[in-house]
Amino acid sequence: MDVTLLAIESSCDETSAAVLQDGVILSNFIAGQKVHEQYGGVVPELASRAHQQNIIPVVDAALKQAGVHKSALRAVAFTQAPGLIGSLLVGTCFAKSLALGLGIPLIAVHHLQAHVLANCIAEPRPAFPFLCLTVSGGHTQIVLVEDYLNMKVIGQTLDDAAGEAFDKTAKILGLPYPGGPVVDKLARSGDPRRFSFPEPQIKGLDFSFSGLKTAILYFVQEQMENDVNFVQDNLADICASVQHRIVSILMRKLKKATEETGIKEVCIAGGVSANSGLRKALAEYGEKNNWRYYIPDFQYCTDNAGMIAYTAWQKYQKGEFSDLSVSPAARAPFAQRTA
Ligand code: KG4
Ligand code: ZN
Repeated sequence: MDVTLLAIESSCDETSAAVLQDGVILSNFIAGQKVHEQYGGVVPELASRAHQQNIIPVVDAALKQAGVHKSALRAVAFTQAPGLIGSLLVGTCFAKSLALGLGIPLIAVHHLQAHVLANCIAEPRPAFPFLCLTVSGGHTQIVLVEDYLNMKVIGQTLDDAAGEAFDKTAKILGLPYPGGPVVDKLARSGDPRRFSFPEPQIKGLDFSFSGLKTAILYFVQEQMENDVNFVQDNLADICASVQHRIVSILMRKLKKATEETGIKEVCIAGGVSANSGLRKALAEYGEKNNWRYYIPDFQYCTDNAGMIAYTAWQKYQKGEFSDLSVSPAARAPFAQRTA
């Protein structure tokens, strides 16, 4: 099948466009938004405006990088849900206009489904059924993946997401946003066993991170009362200890999921899957428990249109298109296929 698709991702604070040809990604252009750094978190209205400014140059760059003219496109895909509604609207409206202008179909993609399928973009690919731990700034889920478009959530966070736990820790420590990569970097030279943070006792395959966040806050406040330089002098050890706990919470539940389902084909996805501690722990658990484990390439871990393009390619082959009445949604479960 000779098919070229354009995909757009704009669910949060990255404007991204990708071009895919017959299942192969030719370009994956990602523009971040620096404007949020000074606020210590994503400001939704500013994100929408930055998407408006970025979207045309980003799409243009993705087409140029791929060496593809827009007249060669056979469909336009976009992230429809979940995400910040204003940000999603920018991508949705742009995709609709382009599809209408070129007279080609539209493909609506679920952002979390796409994070999971980032694992299938390149060899080695996991075999179905597989389990995926999706850990991002807004979500923490264990997903049972029966097929490209047939997946269900079997465990999820009851409060904060794993990425939020990293970001909030960074905020408590006075580190910049997004905190995950900064904590990760500092943790590399720290002692993960120096400070012990509590592990929540949540039943089943669900997670909770809000107690950990509070424990870190109280711990830091208490230590600072005795020593104002505590954070400064122990930064690497605090980061390593927090990361160690977040990773152990995630990995224990993932192990439980493999035991309950009997599935030993295991993936991770989402922004936090870029974390070096989590990647290392997955390898360790994998070796010990005879899992076949997979991690997407770095460029497909954090938000990117490449994963949207790949998911759209699966939908294209099944004829799953949307008409122009499709609208974005801030929240939405995976669409379960019955056939
Ligand atoms: O998937 P993503 O780019 O966006 C969402 O869909 O949320 O994930 C962003 C999250 C942020 O919380 C960020 O701090 C976290 O992923 N993150 C990391 C690392 N890189 C990104 N967390 C820990 N270690 C990293 N290396
Ligand atoms: Zn994401």
